[in-house]
Formats: sequence, structure tokens, C-alpha cells
Amino acid sequence: MDRKQVILSPEETGRQREYEQKIRALHQGRGRTPLALVDTFGCQQNVADSQHIMGMLRAMGCEFTRDADRADIIVLNTCAIRDHAEKRVFGNLGALTHTKKKNPDQIICLCGCMAQRPEIAEKVRTSYRHVDLVFGPQAMWKFPELLYRVYTRRGRVFSVEDESGTIAEGMPIVREGHTRAWVSIMYGCNNFCSYCIVPYVRGRERSRDMDKIVAEVRELADQGFKEITLLGQNVNSYGKDLEPRHDFADLLRELDKLDGDFLLRFMSSQPKDASFKLFDTMAQSRHVAHQLHLPVQSGCDRVLRAMNRPYDRARYLELINYARKVMPDLVLTSDIIIGFPGETEAEAMETVGLVRQVEFDALFTFIFSPRPGTPAAKMDDPVPRAEKQKWFDTLCATQNDISARLHARYVGKTLRCLVDGETDDARWPLSGRTAGGRLVHLVGDKSALGQYRDIKITDSNTWALFGEMV
Ligand code: SAH
Ligand code: SF4
Ligand code: F3S
Repeated sequence: MDRKQVILSPEETGRQREYEQKIRALHQGRGRTPLALVDTFGCQQNVADSQHIMGMLRAMGCEFTRDADRADIIVLNTCAIRDHAEKRVFGNLGALTHTKKKNPDQIICLCGCMAQRPEIAEKVRTSYRHVDLVFGPQAMWKFPELLYRVYTRRGRVFSVEDESGTIAEGMPIVREGHTRAWVSIMYGCNNFCSYCIVPYVRGRERSRDMDKIVAEVRELADQGFKEITLLGQNVNSYGKDLEPRHDFADLLRELDKLDGDFLLRFMSSQPKDASFKLFDTMAQSRHVAHQLHLPVQSGCDRVLRAMNRPYDRARYLELINYARKVMPDLVLTSDIIIGFPGETEAEAMETVGLVRQVEFDALFTFIFSPRPGTPAAKMDDPVPRAEKQKWFDTLCATQNDISARLHARYVGKTLRCLVDGETDDARWPLSGRTAGGRLVHLVGDKSALGQYRDIKITDSNTWALFGEMV
């Protein structure tokens, strides 16, 4: 892709800022501050996108609410990764017919990955007529212009063309809190794993310029953010489209030079592009957390090939063995799909065997969900759901034992944790994260919120650690 076509010109993004001001003037004409509700489904990339959508809404003069009845503008930022994710959104959309009946001027917007699927856009067009604006992730940067069209034409607007995608710099943003921040470093995916919808809805891989990312992270560090997570569907292929070429490890090295007391995390990584250079860089860095989310998907070479994941079990093991050698304190997590079309019980148990062998700190486990338009959706899938569920339960039980065992090893240790949450549990009123990203329920004073503290771990279970401030 030609970078000139990929990066939107300042004139183009500037036009959107003008639309924000035009809408702000329209809102001011009504004499009351409009309220917006943004609901986010799906992965961190969507969370990051929603923060930009909120930034644009704030520039239009909106304040925010969680009450759908009071909202003037509702935005559902959706996920298409599994059927279940889409069903949830349709449930929410259905409920919004009632709020719109009570408030016919309410504007309802559907955006995100689902909106980019042609079948979904068509279904919304014909059967969800209370939805005013539909736009995919590729069109997010022109949300102000699209919303202006809804206001001035009083008609429904659809912007779901299949584009390969752009990069928009300088979009406004509303971050949540002052502790954790998300920074997208690239967009889209070129991998076309045979089960996955993401490349169809997020377009081709494109990397932001390194200096733009460095400037954003520097600003966040200066503002006192303590954890900055770099986002991309496959951060390990960062920079393949840049000239001169830089890779993800180069980007980490640049970011590591920044001053401040903060941790860098990143997700997700594809094993096919993970490198020893990356692990060496992590090991030598000051800021990069020794935490790696490296989705393996399956422990069976035949299934990996059918998934179009171009690595095998041996290569995966080689990668993590090296990563653990250079970072003995590495916290390793992964994603696994059970019940891929044609997978046999023996093959699923190969995956369970891999899990036993590797001893991940935690796993995100999924039962295969056919996504229309992907190659896997057309494959023969003879195994009944109940059978897949049994394999899935075996996998989860195996991992739960491992997580509980690994967590128990923390008891008695003192770890530096970022205290960043309050809970409803009076026994453990605070929560935090270790450098490796493990959740810790805490006893201690609220004044520690947003800060690093040494925490003595006193107890643990499968999902979390428990501790007190020292
Ligand atoms: N880009 C990331 C994954 C993003 S999607 C990567 O490649 O690692 C997050 C996870 O959802 C995937 O790792 C996979 O385990 C799961 N997933 C994706 N498509 C799925 C499908 N059709 N059915 C079930 N799980 C799926
Ligand atoms: Fe989907 Fe594969 Fe791309 Fe991850 S790398 S987003 S699983 S196609
Ligand atoms: Fe879902 Fe889109 Fe993320 S499909 S997982 S929100 S990239």
C-alpha cells in the first residue's frame, strides 16, 4: 500500500474537526448540553477506538451518561469475533427500540467490526430501522461528518464500504482515568487465519509512524500514566510497511529511552512473527513488562496448518523456551480454540498436552464459532457441540489447576504492584496488577490509588492473588 494513500492528510482530518465545531454549534442552538452514551464490545482495540469516539463527541459539546433513557446520542461499538458477541449486540439494539420510542429525537449509531460485515449492515438497514448511523472501523475517523449528515438530512446514513484502510492522526480522545492508557500502533491484519473475521472487517495491516507513537507515549508518561499498552492485532508485524523499515523491537527500544516511571505492555503477538530479538529487547528494557500474550490456538500441527497459522508446535516451544530463558520471571498467557472443523478428540487432547507442558499463567479459551465468509466456515464440521464442550471443559480444568498452582508460588513474596482499582468486597477493598499483569486483591489505604506499592502476597486462588501493602 502506498503510504501517501494510507495516512490521511492534515486537510482531511482537519475537515472532521470543522464538522465537530458545526455540530457543537447545532447543539448550542438547542440550549442544553447533549448527553452521549458509548457502549463498547470486543477487544482492547475497540476500547481504544471508543476513546476516540468519545473524544469526538466531547469536541461536539457532549457530556456522557450511562443511562440509555437520558442519552441524546447512543453509540454501540461492536465486535464480530464470535457469534455470541454479535447476538449480544442485537439484544442491546432490540432494547433500544423502547428508549427511542420515548425519545424519538435520540440518535442511535452502530459502529465497529460488526458494522463492517455486509450481511449485518443489510439486516440493520431492513430490520432495525431505529438505527440512524452505521459505520465500520475503517470509517471511524469521519464520524463527525457522518453524524452531521444525519443531523442535516434527517435520513439514515450507512458508511460501510470495504476499504483497505487508512491511518488518522490527531483524533481527539477521552481517556479513562490517569493510570492506564491504550496506544494503537498499527491497524488491520494480513494473516487471514482461516477462522477469523478480523482481516475482513479491519482491512490491511498499516503501521503508524514511529515518531507519532513515541510522541504519544512521551506525552502519556509526562502526564503520569503508569501503564501504557501498545495495541495491534499482530504487533510483531509492526513496521513491515514503513520506509525506512523498523520492526516492533526497534519501536520498543525507542520507547524504552523515554523517562518516567511507567510500564509498557503490548498485545497481541502472532508466533509467526515473534523473534528472539523481541525477547532480548524485552529482557534488556527498563519499561517493558515481562509479560507476553502469545496465542497458540492449537497444540496440533495438522490443526495449526488448517487454521493457516504458519508455525508448528516445536517452533512455538522454541520461542517460549527462549523467552523464558532471557526472562525467568516472564508471565505467559495464550488464546486457544477448541473444536476447529475436523478436529478430533485426540487432536484436542494434543492441545491439552501442550498446555500441561507449557504451564501458561492463564488462558483465554474459546469454542470455534463459524464466521460467515471465512474459509473455516465452509469446512466440514461433524463433531457435535456437546462433544466439543467436553473437550473444552477438560482444557479449562487443566488450566485452572495450573493457574492455581502457579499463583500459590507467589504467596509470601513481596511484589511491586500498580494499585488501580476499588472493589465492592470489604475484605479486599482495592485491586492492583503485578508487573506481569496478575490481578491482586488488596488491603490498604485508598491514597495508594494510581501508584506503585510493594505488596506482600498472603493468599491466592485460580484467578487472583491476595495481599497487603508493606
Ligand atoms: N490477533 C490476535 C487475536 C485476536 S482475536 C492473534 O492473532 O493472536 C482473539 C482470539 O479470539 C483469537 O486469538 C482466537 O483464539 C479467538 N477467535 C478468533 N476467531 C474465532 C472464531 N471464529 N471462533 C472462536 N474463537 C475465535
Ligand atoms: Fe485474526 Fe489471525 Fe489476524 Fe489474529 S492474526 S486477528 S487471529 S487473522
Ligand atoms: Fe472483535 Fe473487532 Fe476486536 S471483531 S475482537 S472488536 S478487532
